[in-house]
Amino acid sequence: MNEKNTSVVAGATKENFRDEVLDGLSKSPRQLPYKFFYDQRGAQLFQEICDLPEYYITRTEIEILRLHGADMAKALGPQVELIGLGTGAGTKTRILLEELHNPAVYVPIDISKEQLERSSARFREMFPTLQVLPVCVDYLEPFELPLPRRLSSRSVIYFPGSTIGNFEPEIASEFLARLVDVAGDGGGLLIGVDLQKDRDVLERAYNDAAGVTAQFNKNLLVRINRELEADFDLNRWQHHAIYSPSEGRIEIYLISDNEQTVHIGAREFQFRAGEEILTEYSYKHTIAGFIELARQAGFHFEQVWTDDARWFGVFYFTVL
Ligand code: AVJ
Repeated sequence: MNEKNTSVVAGATKENFRDEVLDGLSKSPRQLPYKFFYDQRGAQLFQEICDLPEYYITRTEIEILRLHGADMAKALGPQVELIGLGTGAGTKTRILLEELHNPAVYVPIDISKEQLERSSARFREMFPTLQVLPVCVDYLEPFELPLPRRLSSRSVIYFPGSTIGNFEPEIASEFLARLVDVAGDGGGLLIGVDLQKDRDVLERAYNDAAGVTAQFNKNLLVRINRELEADFDLNRWQHHAIYSPSEGRIEIYLISDNEQTVHIGAREFQFRAGEEILTEYSYKHTIAGFIELARQAGFHFEQVWTDDARWFGVFYFTVL
């Protein structure tokens, strides 16, 4: 590979990004991979989404941690090695670590090197007795973990934020099976999962009044324009998010409001008026359904903590 022409964009190479975009837009129905939402602007917009009044997810998960963190700590036991997947700035992880009894090791895994360095420094400062071993990889790909110097009782993967919601059931199941291996015998998985609920609540959360989610969605086009010499006209695309109760998922689209032609480098794409590009699925599970999904992957269900309305669940599974 020619090193000079291979600029890295959020863990993927530019060639990779171009290939996946061209590939997705050539499919029928058309789609764009959600994993490319998170460039610098996208990550910032997602932070803004988390603070929106309609976006109950982040707030509810934090409330569950505050209410039941002590109980979770009891279930996980003392001296754990905590492996954090996609924990971002680490607000939730911090709450959890404060509750845990003598946590031994913290292994944050993140695709963004800057994010990882910033949060590792903060965690070393906040928890001076904790061994912090950051790993900069894309956790969607197979990865190896560093060998901790400090002895721990068990490895517990922490996967908050309902990030698992992006995965279609089959992918989710494969991914969970990989996590069984990562946690190892005697290990665990503490995972935040958004639950099925009233469709109005769900659709409001993905169609916020301030239009931040629309900006987040359209930012994918901004990124394609900038990085792949494309000419998407942002004014001619509409954000659309709709709940499918039968699939148990929010579906997020960009809709062409007119017939139009878009260039991406030397390639040309024709869009019909009203034609959709699927950009994201956000699956909502039932408690029983998610326990079954994890069971099939090889996890043993231990406990679930929810808010009073049962909008969100934090599940604890172990590997027997
Ligand atoms: C990061 C996948 C949990 O599905 O709620 C939020 C992403 N997309 N608003 C979600 C998202 C639009 C979010 N996850």
